[in-house]
Amino acid sequence: MSSAPPTATTAPQTWTRPNSEFFISNNPSLLSVQAVNEAFGREFLYWGKPFPEDVMHQMLHGSMSFGVYKSVQPQSEGEPFSPTAENTEQIGLARMVTDDTTFGYLSDVYVLPEYQGHGLGKWLMSCVSEVFSKENMPYLRRIMLLTGDKRMQDWYTKIFGMEVIAHERRPDIGQDLVFMCARPNAKS
Ligand SMILES: CC(C)(COP(=O)(O)OP(=O)(O)OC[C@H]1O[C@@H](n2cnc3c(N)ncnc32)[C@H](O)[C@@H]1OP(=O)(O)O)[C@@H](O)C(=O)NCCC(=O)NCCS
Repeated sequence: MSSAPPTATTAPQTWTRPNSEFFISNNPSLLSVQAVNEAFGREFLYWGKPFPEDVMHQMLHGSMSFGVYKSVQPQSEGEPFSPTAENTEQIGLARMVTDDTTFGYLSDVYVLPEYQGHGLGKWLMSCVSEVFSKENMPYLRRIMLLTGDKRMQDWYTKIFGMEVIAHERRPDIGQDLVFMCARPNAKS
């Protein structure tokens, strides 16, 4: 049998900041199907709609899902915080549909409106780009995504080096989308 490919992404990671109640993790055990479904039912998430719970569970767990979380447990000074699904609230998501080695399709990026504008979205993307970096995924060939927001295009270009490669007409959501692609390990 051949050996496993060199990838550093298999162990879940958690990112914290000093004196912050927020953290980011790609640990699947923290994901909240209910919280994501509630977000998918809100107006700001223009592309989504809630799914049956088993479908949402499969969607989140069949991808590498990065959650943005808020601790809902009072912290004791000096005590290390052990996040669980019970003592955290999920307030954001970025979902990479991936083989963990060569390809990633980024989807469902959001931070709930009541928490936007405080740097959480940028932090979330920096965690995703850390995992999907040349160093961590030397065989990564492409990252792709679709977006309807011009400001987001500039954001993804800055973070991942994404380029617009095609347009998709989407009368169903009242908004056309652009298809973006990055090739992090392309030969220069
Ligand atoms: C896009 C989003 C995840 C950013 O999260 P956030 O926590 O507000 O982001 P930050 O506070 O870290 O700001 C990051 C950058 O995004 C910009 N930004 C903030 N909200 C934005 C929005 N709704 N649309 C586009 N850009 C936005 C900020 O101006 C900032 O730009 P800067 O780097 O030039 O300062 C969040 O606004 C959101 O969930 N939007 C609705 C869902 C959505 O459009 N998702 C992306 C689909 S492709």
